Parts: sequence; C-alpha cells; structure tokens
Amino acid sequence: MSVRTLSYKALLFFGLCQVGRRGFVSASELREPPKKIAIIGAGIGGTSAAYFLRQDFGPSVKIDVFEAGAVGGRLATEEVEGRSLSVRAEVPSKMAIFDGKELLFEESDWFIVNFLRMLWRYGFNAIRMHMWVEGILEKFMRIYQFQQFSYSFSSVDRMLHAMGGDEFLTLLNQTLEEAMLAHGFSQTFINEIVTPISRVNYGQSVRLHAFAGAVSLAGAESGLWAVDEGNKRVCFGLLYHSKAELISARVTNIALKTRPSKSGANTKFYEVNYVSDSGSAYSLYDVVILATPLHQGLSDISFSGFSPPLPSHFPGRYHQTVTTLVLGRLNISYVDVRRKPSEFFVSDIFTTDGEKLGICSLSSLDPVHITPGYSRPPASETTVWKIFSPEPLTEEQLRTLFVSRERVIEKRWLAYPSYRAPERRPPPFILNDSLYYLSPIEWAASAMETSALSARNVALLAKHRWYKNTAKVDQEGLHSRLRGEL
Ligand SMILES: *[C@@H]1O[C@H](CO)[C@@H](O)[C@H](O)[C@H]1NC(C)=O
Ligand SMILES: *[C@@H]1O[C@H](CO)[C@@H](O)[C@H](O)[C@H]1NC(C)=O
Ligand SMILES: *[C@@H]1O[C@H](CO)[C@@H](O)[C@H](O)[C@H]1NC(C)=O
Repeated sequence: MSVRTLSYKALLFFGLCQVGRRGFVSASELREPPKKIAIIGAGIGGTSAAYFLRQDFGPSVKIDVFEAGAVGGRLATEEVEGRSLSVRAEVPSKMAIFDGKELLFEESDWFIVNFLRMLWRYGFNAIRMHMWVEGILEKFMRIYQFQQFSYSFSSVDRMLHAMGGDEFLTLLNQTLEEAMLAHGFSQTFINEIVTPISRVNYGQSVRLHAFAGAVSLAGAESGLWAVDEGNKRVCFGLLYHSKAELISARVTNIALKTRPSKSGANTKFYEVNYVSDSGSAYSLYDVVILATPLHQGLSDISFSGFSPPLPSHFPGRYHQTVTTLVLGRLNISYVDVRRKPSEFFVSDIFTTDGEKLGICSLSSLDPVHITPGYSRPPASETTVWKIFSPEPLTEEQLRTLFVSRERVIEKRWLAYPSYRAPERRPPPFILNDSLYYLSPIEWAASAMETSALSARNVALLAKHRWYKNTAKVDQEGLHSRLRGEL
C-alpha cells in the first residue's frame, strides 16, 4: 500500500469521526426535516432538484412535483416518420457553413484536411479558441468541487464569482464579439465560425453576452452540452429515484401563510394552488422550489402574502425558436449552385448573419435506430430535415429551400433567454425564506448542465437554510481554501 492511499484512508477515517462527532453534538439542536416539499416544473431542473432534495432531507419528506405539460420540459422530443426531433447522431456528421451566398467551409471526412483548411483560412484562431474556452471551462468546473463539499450560493452573481472571480462577471458585461476581439481573435473567424455556433445554440448572434457565448462554444467543441434524445429519459430516471409524486396540474398561485408554533414564533408555510383535470385544489408545503422560468409566455403563477410583492414575471424575455421538420428533398442549388444533389452529403448546415431567410441551421436527421451498415443518403433522396429559425418559415421560403415536401411539422417554443450585454442581474435563488427559484442560472447560460447544477445548488441552499448552517452559504475564496484542504 502506498503512502498516498494510506494517508487517504487515514484522512477518510478521521474525517468520518469528525462528521460523527459533529452529528452527535448538534443532534439536540437539529430541526426536524421539512414534512412536505413542492417542486414546480418537471424539466431537468425540477427533476434534478427532486433527486437532490431526497438525498439532502432523507426518506421521510414528501416531495410533490407539479407539471402542467410533459416530463422533460423543453427537452421533450417529437417524432416524424420514426425519427426523433433531437436525436444525437451516431453516424458521423458532416458540417458546412453557409453565408447566404455560398458554402464558406465544408468539413471533410479527414481530420487532417479539416485542420489544414481551418489553418489556411483562420490561422491559429481555432486552436486559440479551444484554449480560451478550456480556460473558462476549467474555472466553471470548480462548481462541482464546491458542491461536493456542499457549498451553496444565494445568487448567480455570487456563484459565478466563486468560480471565476471578476473575470466571470465581466463576461456577462461584454458581448461575445467584444470579448473575443479583445483576446485577439479575427473578425473573419468570429463572423464565419463563432457566429454560426452561437446562432445554432442560442438562435442569437455574437452580440449575446460572452459567458453564454463561451458555454455555447464549449458545447460545439465537446458535445458536452448537447441535448440528445436520451435526456428526457434522464428526467424520468431522476423522478423515479427521488420517490417524488408527480402531479399533473398547472400551478396558479402560491400564497404565504403563517401559523403559531410551539416555541411561540410564527412558522411560515406555502399554499400551492393548482388546477388539474379534476378541478382546482391546494396543498400546504414547508419548502417550495420553482423550477420553471417566471417569464412571459412560460408560466403564469401569481404570488400572494409576500411583502415586498413577488412578480409573476421577471424582466427579460425568452427567445423564440421555431423548429421545422420537413420530410422532403432539399434544394441544393440554394446553398451551392454548382453541386449535384447526388454528391451532397453534408448533414449540418450552419449559417452566418448573412443568411437571407433567417435560418439558423439546417440538419438532416438520422433514424432513431441505426441499423448496421447504415450510411447517410445523399441530398438527392428524401429525408427529414430539421430547421431552426427565429420566425416561422413561410410557404415561399419552404419552396425556395425544398424541391419537394411530403410532410412539414412546425413547433414554436421559448427555448432560452434572449441574451444581451451587459446582461441585467438575474433574480436571486431565494425568493422568500423557504421559497427557491432555480431558473435564474439560465441568464448566465441555459443548458442541461447548468439547470442540473442550479438544482444541486438550490437543494443545498434549502438544506443549509433549513438547518441554519450559514457556514455553507456564500463563502468567498472557496477555490483557494478547498485547494488547501485537499
Ligand atoms: C458590470 O456592469 C454593471 C453595470 O451594468 C456594473 O455595475 C458591474 O460592476 C460590472 N461588473 C464588472 C465585473 O465589470
Ligand atoms: C418572506 O415574506 C415575508 C412576508 O412578506 C417577509 O416578511 C419575509 O421577510 C420574507 N422573507 C425573505 C427572506 O424575503
Ligand atoms: C432552388 O434554389 C435556387 C437558388 O436560390 C432558386 O433559384 C430556385 O428557385 C430554388 N427552387 C427550386 C425548386 O429549384
């Protein structure tokens, strides 16, 4: 046994003794766990919160999850002709960039060819972008260590500051374009490579703030943040393991109530009013977690009994993305007049701000179940194309894009915040003593991972505040302190 593992085991042993002793001393002053917790929203945030709250508060607490639509929230998928709306490609994709006139860049099957093409056109910009994003990601990852040590934060600002100091807060104040120009990236590279990535991820140009922008670049590089078809199942899994009860109902109002407790002080609790198929009803809860954005078009919950009053909608709007699924044949001349459709194998066309129809991206979908030997058909064959655009496509636009159409399905949704720079300060995670809100994180960056870590944060916050353990909330300088502890 090496010294290292020995000392590690010793550390663990003494560590456990510490925990045991602390537990013994404080047992008398420990509060009972809450009896009932409500979570509003069963997307990735709400279902993760259910899972973490179960961990933090133990088996006795009753957890109810309210959801008016489908479990999985904005991750819910749709199918056309047996193909899922957001399936992760198992067949290697082939990407091209379209500027409204021609294809600026087309990926080859050969890594080295791509590398040389990128080098030729953009110099070292691509490699430097990788390093820039890695640097941000590395600081971002610190949150997982903080959470492992059970630290929590009361606001997005404090959380970002703990991860990346003023540098992270500055990223919210600049556009992605400003930040990258300041780091010496070329305008051509920003227009032709960075813009298409930010258009496909957030439907917005490089004028979005640099933090969300960097997250979208990280996603493009690693696929880490990509939404795939399995993610909806993650929500079901989390819900199942949390042993929470799913209530199919729309929450209409949350009212603060008080009642005198044994100790004489008033205890607060929350009355959740909701409407389901069997009519209106309400239930009382000790803790409530809002896991749905309180924004126009996304939820309509009123609050009563709070002073200062809580708004139904916070300022800022969510950006509309229209997903159009077309089963048909693409008009290849639209992107490349010289190319024969039988020779066009590109699966993903990303666009620059020059694209005239306002299309953010065009991707061909592979079937959900890939049979051995499957290879993507050329664009001369009928297939399912998925188009992202900020506005619904008109008949005329569809006629330009497709030479034939068998089926068209359109879905409009408010997918993510409409970012700006400087970004307004996101709402707090704590709306009232035991009323928490986990969507503010989306104003920093909206992704599955950020929702899940916000859920972890809010669960820890709820626990520490319930047991009045302030030492685990909003601590400064955690990164250097924890490095010392390890
Ligand atoms: C960001 O901008 C706001 C005003 O818009 C300012 O109060 C804040 O100090 C700025 N933060 C940083 C880190 O530059
Ligand atoms: C919760 O709401 C009550 C009633 O308006 C208020 O007195 C209390 O200060 C609020 N708590 C927090 C933490 O905002
Ligand atoms: C295809 O695209 C070209 C170029 O934009 C356009 O001229 C043509 O009308 C489009 N439609 C068809 C059916 O070819």
